[in-house]
Amino acid sequence: MKFYVLTLFPEMIEQGLGASILGRAQERGAIAVRTVNIRDFSENKHGHVDDYPYGGGAGMVMQPGPVYRACEAVEAEIGHKARVLYMTPQGRVFDQKLAGELAQEEELIFLCGHYEGIDERVLEQKVTDSVSLGDYVLTGGELPAMVMIDCISRLIPGVLSNEQSAEVESFYDNLLEYPQYTRPEEFMGLRVPEVLLSGHHANIEKWRREQSIRRTLERRPDLLTGARLSEKEEEFLQKLREIT
Ligand code: ADE
Repeated sequence: MKFYVLTLFPEMIEQGLGASILGRAQERGAIAVRTVNIRDFSENKHGHVDDYPYGGGAGMVMQPGPVYRACEAVEAEIGHKARVLYMTPQGRVFDQKLAGELAQEEELIFLCGHYEGIDERVLEQKVTDSVSLGDYVLTGGELPAMVMIDCISRLIPGVLSNEQSAEVESFYDNLLEYPQYTRPEEFMGLRVPEVLLSGHHANIEKWRREQSIRRTLERRPDLLTGARLSEKEEEFLQKLREIT
């Protein structure tokens, strides 16, 4: 997967994605992150890329020309149509399902706005998907782009060392993850659940599924409608509901 990020702050993206798991994934070539500085496409002698909003109002608006040219340059490099994702609180709310869909693409172009936003005309021309991280307002699209790239990357083969771990976690199957424990066996008088020390894999698996169901009911009951449960697990959930 190749991620292109159109931004006025390429160093934010490079630093944010250059360390840890995604840094190593880039070194191995499992993913590539290419930043494109929108300012490089300014035709203004001062390198300005923003101006006052027509009609008045607070803040500055990013001009359409530099964004359009930056996008064209990336599209020319890719050589075929690619999805252009605009980070905005007005977009479809990002979730694991959308991450899975986007992970199927060969390339993705992220467009990060700043100030009061980007001139609507270039958005109409270039953006295929408007995506929001949630119902709150951030100062720019860089953090949302990094969050999305992180989430999509972990679904790409070769990014996580243990391929399984992308599946067993929260939201796989619409269930939250079960609790984890490591050494010591006792911490401040609290013991690790005995079943985890038993070495009995079937019992451990059953306990973990039940913990996932219990947690999801307690913390995110809205997710349960989309969860796939066995008949036994449905019965377990029913019992939990009766006692709570
Ligand atoms: N830009 C500013 N706020 C945002 C949000 N919540 N999601 C995506 N992009 C944004």
